[in-house]
Amino acid sequence: MRTQIAIIGAGPAGLFLGHLLHKAGIEVTILERKDRAYVEGRVRAGVLEQGTTNLMKQLGVDARLKKEGLVHTSTNLAYDGEIFRINMAELTGGSTVTVYGQQEVMRDLFDAAAERGIKIIFDAGDVTLHEIESDHPFVTYKKDESEERLDCDYIVGCDGYHGVSRGAIPASAYTAFERVYPFGWLGILADVPPVNHELIYANHANGFALASMRSPTRSRYYIQCSVDEKIEDWPDERFWDEVCLRLGPEGSHNLVRGPSFEKTIAPLRSFVGEPMRFGRLFLAGDAAHIVPPTGAKGLNLAVSDVTILGEAFAEFYNLGSPKGLEGYSARALKRVWKAERFSWWFTSIMHRFPNTEAFDRKMQIAELSYLKTSRAAQTTLAENYVGLPIE
Ligand code: FAD
Ligand code: PHB
Repeated sequence: MRTQIAIIGAGPAGLFLGHLLHKAGIEVTILERKDRAYVEGRVRAGVLEQGTTNLMKQLGVDARLKKEGLVHTSTNLAYDGEIFRINMAELTGGSTVTVYGQQEVMRDLFDAAAERGIKIIFDAGDVTLHEIESDHPFVTYKKDESEERLDCDYIVGCDGYHGVSRGAIPASAYTAFERVYPFGWLGILADVPPVNHELIYANHANGFALASMRSPTRSRYYIQCSVDEKIEDWPDERFWDEVCLRLGPEGSHNLVRGPSFEKTIAPLRSFVGEPMRFGRLFLAGDAAHIVPPTGAKGLNLAVSDVTILGEAFAEFYNLGSPKGLEGYSARALKRVWKAERFSWWFTSIMHRFPNTEAFDRKMQIAELSYLKTSRAAQTTLAENYVGLPIE
């Protein structure tokens, strides 16, 4: 088999890129290790930046988003029993974020891919990259017990943090930068109305908590937990008690409890590998970088990567210029590092860090108290939260 671009992974990065390239008249084949139901069922991101919703509109996959997406102009921060609102739209000249689950985004992208004939091969096992330093790279994989080979012009690794693509770059040509946080997030979904019409991020002496949502009848809550915590130790009642305590009386007085139907623990990590290109291999999304979820940046960063890469491929195939491809890594990394900085900073001021001194907590409270009253500080948070421009 032959294609122009072989994309590994049908998560948000792979599918958005598939749509962008298809729209530009470039042939793609997407290889996905799992099946559609598995990819679509993963409960992950919830907050879309304006650039992400703009891209969904541009690709004509926003019909449901327009109807069901919840546009948020503001967000809320809570600490020491106080709660304050940051009006992001007012501070950024009208930018907003939209609450629309990653599962919904995936469903819309998969439906449209099927309608448009974008080729996705599910259940592709043992995906292996070959000859990425040559001008005839190829990918081999297993499908229904038979060995397959896909020849292509370029390979794009969109296979997430645990994928195989990143490992195809020789260690001598690659530098990884990493911070692992000493805690995770325990998240639940429950069919109860959200406690508030906007998100609440809370810093409590016991640790971080977040009140989020998926719809007017479905809530998403998270609490910081230790990395070796066991789900079985968190029956619903214990979770609700803890989330109420951490959100504070004002943040939790409307909270409706109910049975959770999803409960998982996610570790927190900051990670960037440089460069995002080696030979005929490009990396995009979580395959290239990870952010802790505090800033709600992961999916949105995957989208900005593939926006840049999509433009570069269109320039190459349709205008004959390799400039965009040559500059992809540097251009994408510029935005990646800013999102890394924001996610790290927001994580640092909102979580309880074990074995730190009382002084550190005082610094967090001072920072939050400054944010509460300073328009300059709020503007900094707002413009990062709604998403920085692609330069
Ligand atoms: P992935 O979604 O990981 O997709 C990679 C795909 O590649 C997968 O389908 C995988 O099956 C496939 N794959 C892997 N290995 C192979 C292989 N060897 N061969 C073939 N296929 C392979 N982001 C936000 O923007 N906002 C948020 O609010 C937010 N909240 C989050 C909350 C949680 C609890 C978590 C865990 C994440 C959150 N994120 C958020 C992050 C976001 O979910 C990810 O950044 C996003 O999924 C990255 O997309 P991706 O396509 O790069 O990678
Ligand atoms: C979510 O709703 O899943 C969510 C919201 C905001 C975040 C992270 C996750 O910062």
